Amino acid sequence: MKFLNIPKTLRFATATGAYQVEGAWNVSDKGVSMWDNVIHSKPENVVDRTTADVACDSYHQYKRDVEMLVELGVEYYRFSIAWSRLLPTGFSNIISEDGSNYYNNLINELIKNNIKPMVTLHHWDLPYVFEKMGGWTNEAVIDYFEEYARVVFELYGDRVKEWITFNEPQVLCLFDVFAVDSGFASETLVSGVSDYLCLHHSIKAHARVYHLYNNTFKPTQKGKLGTAPYTVWGESVSDSEEDIANAEKLMQFFVGWYTHPIYSDEGDYPPIVRKVIDENSARQGFKVSRLPRFTPEEVKYIRGTFDFMGFNFYTAVVPNTDRLDPKKAPSFENDLGFSMLQKDEWELSLITWLRVYPQGFRKITNWMVKQYGNHEIYILENGFATKRGLNDDNRIKYYTEYLTSLLEAIDDGCNITLYTAWTLMDNFEWTLGYLNPMGFYEVDFDSPNKTRVPRKSAKFYRQLIETRKLKVAD
Ligand code: NOJ
Repeated sequence: MKFLNIPKTLRFATATGAYQVEGAWNVSDKGVSMWDNVIHSKPENVVDRTTADVACDSYHQYKRDVEMLVELGVEYYRFSIAWSRLLPTGFSNIISEDGSNYYNNLINELIKNNIKPMVTLHHWDLPYVFEKMGGWTNEAVIDYFEEYARVVFELYGDRVKEWITFNEPQVLCLFDVFAVDSGFASETLVSGVSDYLCLHHSIKAHARVYHLYNNTFKPTQKGKLGTAPYTVWGESVSDSEEDIANAEKLMQFFVGWYTHPIYSDEGDYPPIVRKVIDENSARQGFKVSRLPRFTPEEVKYIRGTFDFMGFNFYTAVVPNTDRLDPKKAPSFENDLGFSMLQKDEWELSLITWLRVYPQGFRKITNWMVKQYGNHEIYILENGFATKRGLNDDNRIKYYTEYLTSLLEAIDDGCNITLYTAWTLMDNFEWTLGYLNPMGFYEVDFDSPNKTRVPRKSAKFYRQLIETRKLKVAD
């Protein structure tokens, strides 16, 4: 055994999302979110036919959650606010007293225990009222998101100093492509059209809220604001030029699509994404590209709207050797031009898409730096699904290997200052229900208080943070 030193500059966090843990879906005046709606109207979409109506019941058990964060010794807790809990109508005309008290209490409890809150404004649970209006394909939602954000900054900005606008908006906009979430939450999905529109507006909404914070709140509140893109490492199947180009294309489609307009110096969509979708649209007879355009003013307004370069990272994929015909039907996948697969030799977690590829961490981080510059980097999610049970050695192995790779990226010169492990406790994994536990704490979903018990990995994380050393094999 040997030990790797963890640089003092790296801080540790763990995370959850409101819909996955809070429960209390209709307590007090809470409004309905698009996930509440779909789960109740299409129960068959969740593999184990469970709901998040109660989930971990964090709405009532938040003090226990904070106790667990103290046990882990993390410096930050990343959680999200349920828009429809704070603003029951979705609009800022009514602020729920119970909803606002809940987040007040949680934030105060965290601060009392020396844990810094890091708040995500939108972790996929759009108020249903907006879903009915077309979700993020409707540009008007940007204004309502800004108004929601304003309420949040006014209520909590005195104590919250780290903000994240969107969690993995690419996934939110692409539920059809991610097989696990097939056609799930959105009722407004027109493949190859609405996905691009949805992300276009998410990017604009992100920038709007960045400027709102920057101009109106930051001067006094002095916090930082960024976003949490979905990322995946696109590994080339061979050294051939074509395969390498396809792996890069995959990165630009899945990652650059969202990050290039915001993180890159030149702004706007990645040139290859622009070119491919424009060409495919023209060949399909569209008079206007299916990928919307930013005006030059918008490009400027959007680029650079981040105080840290955040991203989530779990796994890798390789471009398949098939070639999809873009003329067949407009879709994100046909625009990408090939399907994707994962190598059998990469260990599989309990989640079908989550195979272990630790080297990807170093690679993606260096890729981000190369693409966008050596900004301060926040890793906002990274984690693993195992079977139920407290002896989660394979989770410890995952974290050890990924963190080793992360430390290598730091050695390479990448300025990573925050690492967030997903997740504090087992919770509702969207369409996969409760079948794929990812938590440091196991939750007894049958018990009245949703009892939480630490796994072996909780001890691992605590020791890592306490000793600032990562134990690795020789
Ligand atoms: C992505 C999402 O942000 C989170 O909600 C989800 O539970 C994890 N990654 C694991 O799939």
